[in-house]
Amino acid sequence: MINIGVIGYGYWGPNLVRNFAEVEGVTMAAVADLDQKKLDVVKRRYPAARVTTRFQELLEDPSIDAIAVATPVSTHFDLGMAALKAGKHLWLEKPMTETVEQGSQLVAAARERNLVLLVDHTFVYTGAVRRMAEVIKKGDLGQVYYYDSVRVNLGLFQRDVTVISDLAVHDFAILDYLLGEHPVAVSASGINHFPGTPENLAFITLFYESGMIAHCNVSWLAPVKVRQILIGGSKQMIVYDDLEPSEKVKIYDKGVSFTDDPAKIQELRVGYRTGDMLAPKLSGAEALRVEGEHFVDCIRNRKRPETDGEFGVRVVELIEAATASMRGRGETVYVRRDANDRRQARAPRRRYDRGVPPVAGVK
Ligand SMILES: NC(=O)c1ccc[n+]([C@@H]2O[C@H](COP(=O)([O-])OP(=O)(O)OC[C@H]3O[C@@H](n4cnc5c(N)ncnc54)[C@H](O)[C@@H]3O)[C@@H](O)[C@H]2O)c1
Repeated sequence: MINIGVIGYGYWGPNLVRNFAEVEGVTMAAVADLDQKKLDVVKRRYPAARVTTRFQELLEDPSIDAIAVATPVSTHFDLGMAALKAGKHLWLEKPMTETVEQGSQLVAAARERNLVLLVDHTFVYTGAVRRMAEVIKKGDLGQVYYYDSVRVNLGLFQRDVTVISDLAVHDFAILDYLLGEHPVAVSASGINHFPGTPENLAFITLFYESGMIAHCNVSWLAPVKVRQILIGGSKQMIVYDDLEPSEKVKIYDKGVSFTDDPAKIQELRVGYRTGDMLAPKLSGAEALRVEGEHFVDCIRNRKRPETDGEFGVRVVELIEAATASMRGRGETVYVRRDANDRRQARAPRRRYDRGVPPVAGVK
């Protein structure tokens, strides 16, 4: 049996505890939270689990093999490092850390100790994203031209992270998993409409060496919830609507072709192709359950998680780059590709005080 302890039982922690409790070969051994009322709920739901307000108790317990951290992002580095130093395998919530530097230190600490480090990028474990990855990797889409995502709704306003860190993080993870290509540059604009709060709306463009372009529109200030991604390829195109109860993914056999025929030089040399639409059957398994089983498999068989520490660091790198660009009013930020590349993202400045600038002539 693998004994797991969870730190943080706020909004997301209960989902982790519920799923770990159902994974075969796992004992949901203990939960730590600063709030005793939340621990009382744990005790009612899982009478066999130990509860404590001191996370250190979980780290000191030699029977606990792995720790899952589901606390605010600002605490991930300290809690994660403490867990690794105590010899525990680590499940860390997204985004793994506030900075690339912190994420890299956790990756090194896990590697030194031969411990598994998984970053919870839940979307990667959904039936929809896994199916899209299969389609893209098989080459059915042809050359991928673009990825266009809208991820908006009303709230939940966060106090400590921007909408990029809260919502675009999902697109950065999905893009990494689907394409296996890291962008070379990022340009983003965004705003905080309420002085003293993090940016609540952002438009991010990611540029890739292959010619692919990605755009993410993320917002906590939309009247309706939208979770839609379009992926256009030279052969086929995908529409992924995560709010669809079934048929979340639709693959359209549509595209365009251009002819080089000199005889047709005077014509517009574009042909449009419209074929069938396919809505593939997707796995209905809960992503966190799939991910929990994968974590345990990685611990038992010393495998590398699909969303390992390096994956998590690449995502944090894009959050840093997009945040720096947004605070530079859309300036292009080049993303580091190797240790010798000096075009690094500037560290984001914490400036949540701008608010909406007054419109000239309007009182
Ligand atoms: N994978 C996903 O799709 C997903 C979804 C939502 C949130 N998250 C992530 O989960 C993490 C937590 O988010 P949330 O919305 O649940 O936050 P939350 O504020 O609702 O809950 C955090 C909990 O951690 C507890 N906590 C804080 N410091 C602690 C400490 N030192 N020891 C013990 N407990 C401590 C708090 O008391 C609180 O109950 C964040 O990193 C967030 O990004 C991931």
